[in-house]
Amino acid sequence: MAFTIAIDGPAAAGKGTVGRRLAAHFGFAHLDTGLLYRATGRRMLDGEGPVEAAQSLRPGDLDAPGLRTPEVGQAASRAAALPEVRQALVDFQRAFAARAGGAVLDGRDIGTVICPEADVKLYVTATDEVRAARRLAELTASGHDIGYDEVLADLRQRDARDSARAAAPLKPAEDAVRLDTSKLTIEEAVAAAIAEVERVQ
Ligand code: C5P
Repeated sequence: MAFTIAIDGPAAAGKGTVGRRLAAHFGFAHLDTGLLYRATGRRMLDGEGPVEAAQSLRPGDLDAPGLRTPEVGQAASRAAALPEVRQALVDFQRAFAARAGGAVLDGRDIGTVICPEADVKLYVTATDEVRAARRLAELTASGHDIGYDEVLADLRQRDARDSARAAAPLKPAEDAVRLDTSKLTIEEAVAAAIAEVERVQ
């Protein structure tokens, strides 16, 4: 039976890590939907129109190198404000959510728009400073030369744009369970998420 877990929240709050670990724990598939928008943003930076890019994404686009940079994140966020771009990505996400073995999707509008009937909805947050420090550590570990202030400004700018847009803005679904990971280790955050899934399973 399809069992769907929707995880939403602002940039670098821990959605991806919690999503991946939850999926591994329950044997579900995991989709980081931000990659769809990042791949679209990447192709936009290469000169393609965002709508055409979103409509013709190929699986290989999702594991292209360099998708995690702030520059691509900003392009993704600009593309993501366009209703036609979002529309082009809906069917793929819904089909993924409906797979028989169970699925975890993380993004900004999974619990509100893509999977309003999800079995579990989590809204993962952390303070701006904690999120910036975590993202800085990730970027530095993968060889990027960037400072804390720049990372913090980037996250805040994307969150503001993602929250203010008319099309599927970033916001918690009414029935989402909030998980603030600011003071939690990864293990604690994952344990809290697992407990929430087990409560409804
Ligand atoms: O999750 P990530 O930070 O990689 O997402 C990059 C951008 O893609 C976000 O800032 C947001 O604008 C967009 N996005 C979205 N809806 C999703 C996932 C990501 O609008 N479900």
